[in-house]
Amino acid sequence: MCGIVGYVGKERCVEVLMQGLGHLEYRGYDSAGLALHEGSAIESIREVGRLENLGRAVAAQNGHISHMRTGIGHTRWATHGRPSQENAHPQVGGDGSVAVVHNGIIENFAELKEELVGRGVRFSSETDTEVMAHLLAEKVEAGEPLREALTAVLGRLEGSFAVAAVSAREPGVVVAARHQSPLVVGLGEGENFLASAVQALLGETREFLVVENGEVVEVTEASVRIFTQDGEPVEREPFEVDWDAEAVELGIYEDFMMKEIHEQPEALRATLSGRLDADGRVDLSEMDLDLAGVDRIVVVACGTALHAGLLGKGLIERLARVPVEVAVASEYRYSDPIGDENTLVVAISQSGETTDTLAAVGTAKAFGGKVLAVTNTRGSLITREADAVLLTQAGPEICVASTKAFAAQVAVLDLLALDLARVKGTAEEDELHSLGRDLRRAPEKVAATLALLEGKIGDAAGLFEDARCSLFLGRGPAFPAALEGALKLKEISYIPSEGYAAGEMKHGPIALVDEQCPVIAILGEGVLREKTLSNVEETAARGANVIAIAREDDAAAARVGRVALSVPDAPEILRPLVWTVPLQLLAHDVATDRGLDVDKPRNLAKSVTVE
Ligand code: M6R
Repeated sequence: MCGIVGYVGKERCVEVLMQGLGHLEYRGYDSAGLALHEGSAIESIREVGRLENLGRAVAAQNGHISHMRTGIGHTRWATHGRPSQENAHPQVGGDGSVAVVHNGIIENFAELKEELVGRGVRFSSETDTEVMAHLLAEKVEAGEPLREALTAVLGRLEGSFAVAAVSAREPGVVVAARHQSPLVVGLGEGENFLASAVQALLGETREFLVVENGEVVEVTEASVRIFTQDGEPVEREPFEVDWDAEAVELGIYEDFMMKEIHEQPEALRATLSGRLDADGRVDLSEMDLDLAGVDRIVVVACGTALHAGLLGKGLIERLARVPVEVAVASEYRYSDPIGDENTLVVAISQSGETTDTLAAVGTAKAFGGKVLAVTNTRGSLITREADAVLLTQAGPEICVASTKAFAAQVAVLDLLALDLARVKGTAEEDELHSLGRDLRRAPEKVAATLALLEGKIGDAAGLFEDARCSLFLGRGPAFPAALEGALKLKEISYIPSEGYAAGEMKHGPIALVDEQCPVIAILGEGVLREKTLSNVEETAARGANVIAIAREDDAAAARVGRVALSVPDAPEILRPLVWTVPLQLLAHDVATDRGLDVDKPRNLAKSVTVE
């Protein structure tokens, strides 16, 4: 949460920082600010609310700051202190000698503040960040170089942070450090960059350096130098990012959510590419993990990634006959988990930086479990904690509500299930190859679903005009899909929505049902379809407006549903992917009908780097 950027180089600092913040706004949008340095003073601009407010404040400077060449920027998701101008970053320390931007939480800020107040320091914000600014300023004003001052201050901080700072005494220098929050350096020609995520800088460079926990980096226009906490220089190889700059632009779409929903076929194609041949054979040799000894799997994840994990559990248990526990990462981290070196921990995280998921990984490592990370973000924190990594190739996901990353996560877990079953010998090769060939059709089937639903969501979305809540029902693999549909709707439309196993609904949630509680039912196939239909009839009998998600030729869907949302016939392994598409589109349209910003729902941020 929170995005930070830094720049040193040409007379385009403001432009680079504002563009970078624009691509990081998904990380928080309570306030935004810049600290710019030219000559002997630091100039700060901070505004409450969306980045566009800061943009207006910058424009009002009439070019006064556009020539500046050094600066840092921030977009905030409030933790300590409400969104206000005083609490916006950059936070300034001492007599204005340093400015700091920060992502994360300083857990011991209260005691540090007490200590500083005891020395006569006056605070102007409620943020935890301000203690860092004052601690730094004390050292800088005592004559310490900024990098050494930051190194010393880091030793006093507890918590998670990525921080960047400028000093009025050192023009042309930005220093930064991190501990458990992400930070990358972008390399340029006669200019260098810092950011919380590579997507902030894709318009500038494809060459990046990772900064590891505890390291301090000093960036000038001509150099990037990384140091350990003991001041030892570190050699670090740059890595290339192959994402396109267009991937973080809207293009023909009005919002990123719709764009990313439509990018699902491509996300699936890229994720399966090279891992599944034309005969349906899976090749996951890239992960270099010995699966033969695995006798138990624990999936740890949050939110949408957790729902992908639930779908993975179904297929892995069915094919590989290995028991799978799917654990909410924030609970797992404080549990007393059962496991040993034969337990495979699958940590799923689009961002690769979700604090709870990372902590759950730490918990699993304590009992000797091998960790496989499934993430969309190369070089992210989770890739460095895990024993093996399977990258989803969904491309940058900007919308806070996850869509294409979910599809790619499900595809990776399908591959894992097929591979594990092969290694364990729990399924016939022919069956596995046949399922593999089915899986290869994922991009085609999801594209067909999108085409089939084009212009068809309006009637279903209309049922939410007066809705006060909604129920998403499904059984078997349709149950995790229902959970995902409910999460999508609630997080962007703010309509209370529950995902429920259709058969369990009569044990409580059916009490919610009336005309103002639409029921979205994924009918499914086979015996579960019949059972689900009966459950849905029970809600219709109580006045529910039912939206039935079912195959095009399913006559019962038209009978039981006020509205039927058709999906194409698809092989079993692909059905959850296909069912999810109308749920994503429905959530999108309900929210936009209410005039809401689907990409930046209130109170949320894309990467949840706090507990
Ligand atoms: O980056 P991660 O996959 O670890 O994020 C996990 C959740 O925070 C995320 O899926 C969240 O629930 C989304 N807002 C759902 O759309």
